[in-house]
Amino acid sequence: MKHTLEDARAADRAELLDYLQGAFKTNDPNHARFEALYPDLFDATDEAMGRHRVIRENGKIRACVGWYPMRVRVGACEADVYGIGQVSCDPALRGGGRMTALMGDVCEKMERSGAGLAWLSGRRDRYAHFGFEVAGSNLVSGMDARSVGEPGPGWSVEQVDASQLARFWALRNRAAVCEDVPPEKWSTRLTRGGKPHRVFLASRGKDAEAMCVAEADGKDNLHEWAGSAAGLHAIIAHLLKTQPGVKAAYAPVQVDPAARMFWDRAAWSNAALSSLRILNLGALLKGYAPWLAQRVPKGAGVMLRIDENNDAAQLGAPSGDTLALDRLTMTRLMFGPSAPSSVVALPEKSRWLDSVFPLPFLLPNLSHV
Ligand SMILES: CC(C)(COP(=O)(O)OP(=O)(O)OC[C@H]1O[C@@H](n2cnc3c(N)ncnc32)[C@H](O)[C@@H]1OP(=O)(O)O)[C@@H](O)C(=O)NCCC(=O)NCCS
Repeated sequence: MKHTLEDARAADRAELLDYLQGAFKTNDPNHARFEALYPDLFDATDEAMGRHRVIRENGKIRACVGWYPMRVRVGACEADVYGIGQVSCDPALRGGGRMTALMGDVCEKMERSGAGLAWLSGRRDRYAHFGFEVAGSNLVSGMDARSVGEPGPGWSVEQVDASQLARFWALRNRAAVCEDVPPEKWSTRLTRGGKPHRVFLASRGKDAEAMCVAEADGKDNLHEWAGSAAGLHAIIAHLLKTQPGVKAAYAPVQVDPAARMFWDRAAWSNAALSSLRILNLGALLKGYAPWLAQRVPKGAGVMLRIDENNDAAQLGAPSGDTLALDRLTMTRLMFGPSAPSSVVALPEKSRWLDSVFPLPFLLPNLSHV
């Protein structure tokens, strides 16, 4: 059956929100409403609602896929990324190919958009079919008062809210891993889930030297952080006076001074935190040019090519060599967790790829969709 796909509009907001809750109730009868979970994604505007591709039948929304554009910075690199969420179909109509039609359509649109990458969180066996691979070389550290220990002297830590954004917005935007997002939208995200996330600043003088967003009271995730590792240490020690633990997921890269602290101070595990889909190799390599410039040996080069659609881009110098892989394997090669030579059998002359990949990438918790 051929399905007709359309963009949701501002006038569809109430219907889409009711529909989504009905669709996700089959996973969890107490599933929260989507406007409470993601208040920043459901403005009553054509622009915000148009991020939802839907199938309408007999006048009613029956299936949906949300695709949300973001720009994520990792150190000096940047990636244009689409977050995929709200993938759903009316419980009465499942198995009729609606999700497949919507995912196929959105993947095609994302490829044409010029963005480099798509992100989602979901079952591998469902989304691998659409080119998404569980990938990423990220770590998760769980810290408690014993592992973190006392901070250095002289720090004061205070809890602030979004009304004081001017005091820490510039600092937040210097985070090693960070989505570029308008401050109003970011402030709305602090209310995700209905219970406000907590923002802390650490200072030794007038200006804040570190900031951290911790999940709402009673929860242990650190969502975002920026500034000095010593200041962040002070914030975490402060949090651990009133809660038993904190947990941080991070890209283990030198661009983030906090990563070293998380890594040094607690037991950690290696965690692929999400699924990624390469949309455009050229866009990806362009965004990661600062990383590549430091790691591709002089004179080395290879043409990377994805079998499924012949998307290709030159990494380093033209050499006549091509590495053609299916999309899932290319995603593993470029984003890990393993080194390229563990992913595919590389000839000796291409082993330099082990010093180039995996590329660091992490979507901060507050940017999840
Ligand atoms: C998951 C969901 C969106 C599927 O919608 P649907 O319209 O029934 O899906 P389709 O008819 O296109 O596909 C039916 C099944 O065949 C699978 N399929 C489709 N084409 C396929 C192919 N070519 N090869 C292998 N499997 C295929 C799909 O993955 C799907 O299996 P799954 O439900 O286990 O993922 C729907 O079950 C739902 O709304 N679930 C509740 C909400 C939810 O969990 N959403 C996902 C959040 S990450």
